[in-house]
Amino acid sequence: MDFENLRQLASDVRLRAYAPYSKFQVGAALLASDGRVFTGCNVENISFGLTCCAERSALFSAVAAGCTEFSQIVIVADSQEPVTPCGACRQVLAEFAPDLEITSTNLQGEVFQANLRDLLPRPKAGILGT
Ligand code: THU
Repeated sequence: MDFENLRQLASDVRLRAYAPYSKFQVGAALLASDGRVFTGCNVENISFGLTCCAERSALFSAVAAGCTEFSQIVIVADSQEPVTPCGACRQVLAEFAPDLEITSTNLQGEVFQANLRDLLPRPKAGILGT
C-alpha cells in the first residue's frame, strides 16, 4: 500500500467525521505490518472531553480486529498546516508502535513527516517498571 492509497483512504474517511462542534474533520489511515489498513475519523461529543481523534479511532478499530503492529499512519485535515497527532494520540499510538512513521497532509497537498519517536521520546520510560 503506497502513500497515495493511504492518503486517499484517510481523505475518504475524513468525510465521515462527526465534528458538529469544531467543524474540523480529520481522517486517518493506519498501515499494519501485515499490510492491512485501518481507517478512523474524529468523533466529537457534546461534553467535548469525550471526543475521540481520528488517529485513536483508527488504532482502536485495528486492535479490535486483532492487529497490534503498525508501520505508518497518514492523517488528512483541512488545515493551514498539516496536523500532527495530539499528545493523547501520540501516547496511545506509542503503546503499540513507538517508531511509527507519521505523515500529515492538508487538502492543499502539503506534507509533514516525522517518526513518532521524535514527537514523543521515551513514551514508556519507567512506567510500571518498564
Ligand atoms: N483532531 C483529530 O481527530 N486529530 C488530530 O490530529 C487533531 C485534532 C480532532 C479532535 C477534534 O474533534 C477536532 O479535531 C478539533 O480539535
